Amino acid sequence: MDGTKEMGLRNVSSTCSISDMDDFDLSRLLDKPRLNIERKRSFDERSLSELSIGFTRGGLDNYESTYSPGGRSGFDTPASSTRNSFEPHPMVADAWEALRRSIVYFRGQPVGTIAAIDHASEEVLNYDQVFVRDFVPSALAFLMNGEPEIVKNFLLKTLHLQGWEKRIDRFKLGEGAMPASFKVLHDPIRKTDTLIADFGESAIGRVAPVDSGFWWIILLRAYTKSTGDLSLAETSECQKGMRLILSLCLSEGFDTFPTLLCADGCSMIDRRMGIYGYPIEIQALFFMSLRCALSMLKHDTEGKEFIERIVKRLHALRYHMRSYFWLDFQQLNDIYRYKTEEYSHTAVNKFNVIPDSIPDWVFDFMPTRGGYFIGNVSPARMDFRWFALGNCVAILSSLATPEQSMAIMDLIESRWEELVGEMPLKIAYPAIESHEWRIVTGCDPKNTRWSYHNGGSWPVLLWMLTAACIKTGRPQIARRAIDLAETRLLKDSWPEYYDGKVGRFIGKQARKYQTWSIAGYLVAKMMLEDPSHLGMISLEEDKQMKPVIKRSTSWTC
Ligand code: GLC
Repeated sequence: MDGTKEMGLRNVSSTCSISDMDDFDLSRLLDKPRLNIERKRSFDERSLSELSIGFTRGGLDNYESTYSPGGRSGFDTPASSTRNSFEPHPMVADAWEALRRSIVYFRGQPVGTIAAIDHASEEVLNYDQVFVRDFVPSALAFLMNGEPEIVKNFLLKTLHLQGWEKRIDRFKLGEGAMPASFKVLHDPIRKTDTLIADFGESAIGRVAPVDSGFWWIILLRAYTKSTGDLSLAETSECQKGMRLILSLCLSEGFDTFPTLLCADGCSMIDRRMGIYGYPIEIQALFFMSLRCALSMLKHDTEGKEFIERIVKRLHALRYHMRSYFWLDFQQLNDIYRYKTEEYSHTAVNKFNVIPDSIPDWVFDFMPTRGGYFIGNVSPARMDFRWFALGNCVAILSSLATPEQSMAIMDLIESRWEELVGEMPLKIAYPAIESHEWRIVTGCDPKNTRWSYHNGGSWPVLLWMLTAACIKTGRPQIARRAIDLAETRLLKDSWPEYYDGKVGRFIGKQARKYQTWSIAGYLVAKMMLEDPSHLGMISLEEDKQMKPVIKRSTSWTC
């Protein structure tokens, strides 16, 4: 139970933090004039890097306009709609209202948003909790609207929960584990608030959320970037919290790969779906959080050790992912012609993938132009399925090269019907059916074909798609997706997910008023309106890593 006060924030004098604050930054490139970007065709047709040509760094706008949150005119008024010149969509006001209704308070302070407020649903399960991953789009919406307080409270509250002793039966979980979700219990008689948290010990399947710690680090950077307030990330508590998360995933073991070995159901897809092993969602979030942590860790004795480990891991992880998870027409053709049973360092087919294991659908699905990071790679096993979250995060974190990022967008465009259809965005493609569904999901009735995690369409993914579109200079794709969402979301009361091959039906067991569907829509809208917000959640290709890559031999000695 939580019986303590919020930890105070110390103002630590900075040695060197948020080093990427000075990085090439979209928020600097694109400030005020961009408010009208939606109307400019030229923007659609050029990449952001092209747009940057002609702008002198630092000469565009000042630090203040980038980092100070937008002022709000009234509690219920989204600042973004008062700041721009065009009429907000009527759905925006409704979404803000619904988002504010979902706010959870702890001792009078806002600390998060509840997963769903669906009064019609008979079963609450754990949808009345504040999920770490679900809060991310809410947090971004609040940051973009100039309301950082709730985000700061959330970061501190979850950090506090990390300090709890976590057990499943007689087994103690790693110290750094962050909860999947937490709940505030109000006692109206005693007038007390207490917290309960779930680290996987109550979750269906008893799986710990590997993504929670990563999202926490990513959100800490977003908060810092958006407010310009370095003091939170610099507190010894936050520094320790980051180090604890990192110790969990940087520890040495029997691994032969730099990727992170995971149990099924350890992320947004929190049920058995055959994503065990090295799922793309986790690898992309792992990569992004390593980069975020690198920019926030202090160069003190403890921090330095982690910084060195992060740099080495990033180097290896980037190489591994870009080489072995990447699939395009050429790569598919190469795998199709692979020899098997190769031994020694000269092997081309390093993981001994048997070409016969390539599913038929991939040959039709793969366009001549385009590509993506596949779902999983491990010995003799490539999961060729498309997963939206991992691919969007790969673009945002620059795990994908600029060419790969473009190719992912090309794929989305050319496979629009399959990946977007009538409701953005398919969480995974294609669905698994029949015998395969029985074996892979263990006959999960919630994950039947084209439903829920098994090929369902999740509106929350709209914000990630929009961010990826802006980053790759293709906002027109995001606009098309948002237009689709606007035809249904409000009318259908903000469902959690849609079912069917093209996402036409409200999901079989989907909650209504699912908070991250609401927040995801708002974030997508605000980002498109003001692309400078992208800087919060995006990292440019790390230029400093390049010389290191060239001198790669130095890493082996
Ligand atoms: C479902 C989703 C999970 C989400 C939770 C709360 O379990 O699979 O990703 O965090 O609902 O919305």
